[in-house]
Amino acid sequence: MAHVKFYYGDSVPLEMHKARIVQKLKLLPIEQRWEAMTRAGNNTFLLKNRDVFLDMLTDSGVNAMSDKQQAAMMEADDSYAGSETFSKLENKIREIFGKEYFLPAHQGRACEHILSKAFVEPGSVVPMNYHFTTTKAHIVLNGGIVEELYLDEGVKVQSSHPFKGNMDIDKFQAAIEKYGAAKIAFVRMEAGANLIGGQPFSLENMQEVRRICEKYGLLLVLDASLLADNLYFIKKREEKCKKMSVREITRALADLSDIIYFSARKLGCARGGGICTNNKEIYQKIRELVPLYEGFLTYGGMSVREMEAIAVGLEETMDEDMINQGPQFIAYMTTELQKAGVPVVTPPGGLGCHLDAMEFLAHVPQVQYPSGALAAALYIVSGVRGMERGTLSEQRDAEGRETLSNMELLRLAVPRRVFTLSQIKYAIDRIVWLYENRHLIGGLTFVEEPRVLRFFFGRLTTVSDWQAKLVARFRECFGDSL
Ligand code: F0G
Repeated sequence: MAHVKFYYGDSVPLEMHKARIVQKLKLLPIEQRWEAMTRAGNNTFLLKNRDVFLDMLTDSGVNAMSDKQQAAMMEADDSYAGSETFSKLENKIREIFGKEYFLPAHQGRACEHILSKAFVEPGSVVPMNYHFTTTKAHIVLNGGIVEELYLDEGVKVQSSHPFKGNMDIDKFQAAIEKYGAAKIAFVRMEAGANLIGGQPFSLENMQEVRRICEKYGLLLVLDASLLADNLYFIKKREEKCKKMSVREITRALADLSDIIYFSARKLGCARGGGICTNNKEIYQKIRELVPLYEGFLTYGGMSVREMEAIAVGLEETMDEDMINQGPQFIAYMTTELQKAGVPVVTPPGGLGCHLDAMEFLAHVPQVQYPSGALAAALYIVSGVRGMERGTLSEQRDAEGRETLSNMELLRLAVPRRVFTLSQIKYAIDRIVWLYENRHLIGGLTFVEEPRVLRFFFGRLTTVSDWQAKLVARFRECFGDSL
């Protein structure tokens, strides 16, 4: 994305890449979309991708690769041990993050598994700016607890705080006093805090966190999966970083971290992951877990082709034109929806545009899953697939009662370099239409409710015939249009 002023009409984000390989999309008529949603048990995870028009479920593993990534994949050096491709990736990590030791893993949660196994024991505490589902699951599985130290502003849906992903330093200090430094396995900072809407932390906040970690001898771990977006926001919103290059900001963050791990399904626009550090003892401690759970030290469960793509993808992430694209599309989408009065998470973050289902569907009780109902309704009226981020994604408590989520969000991810602006405009148009017809949308109830990870596999039905009414209203309004 370039900062280009338009002469005739409003300025819009301008893509600094062109499509050279395309995939055909199909937009089914609304009646067929309704049937597909019913077959999927009103759960967008269970839709077939062939029935989806714009897949905004996630940015994970579905970012567009560049010509240079594809070309590099052809050069991959296939070997179990000592592959040349691994050396290339290791050198790229050294160059960008300044970390000497790199351990490969098949994706982000595999890194979390390894780090939790190495550092978390029963009674351990892991303070963090915000949790992510897989991170928390691994820490809890090893007997640890997660202490979330987010800003009060971080969980306010509408805000003008530029760094809603910051850690609250006073809460951090209080947590150390409460538990004692010896109980703290490590401190985790998540770039582009996923579950609160892809919200960044500032370099200044990271420096503060580091200062306290040093004072108490605590390990600081950076989850860099969503680093690309966070880098963009630091450069754009943090006064003292405006003149720094993306590479310099990356290095500044890396120098403050003892360990960095990432999902290369996000960072680097490929598929895979890894952990890096400058600390030889840490490296030796976690090294032995990699061949056990992932694969030999020079591939860690990744194909060599993906490793080549990651090395190039990391280099491309140091380019402002590349990292701007996602956040600028998201800002465009968020701002246009806001203008039309649709409740959205503000300020716009990375990862995707987040609709506030709590307000969008204020008439749907939380126990009838407003975010899930909104996800089903949006797919039916548009073919756009989003991800429920609310009560449906929580787990019932020991007595079988619902755990009501702080926020009810529908996440519409914007994978990098994938969509065109006209596709984004189409999504906006249908969301606005849906908002104006929101009174027609009703709740959902489970017909098949798995005990764990119910949001992945669960099947639901509508509490009334609201979907029939929604389809009828659509036809009334759009005639025979798709
Ligand atoms: N950390 C963050 C911040 C993430 O967003 C994810 C994945 C992971 C770790 C785990 O990485 O998927 O490669 O195992 N987020 C995906 C999403 C699943 O859709 O937001 P992974």
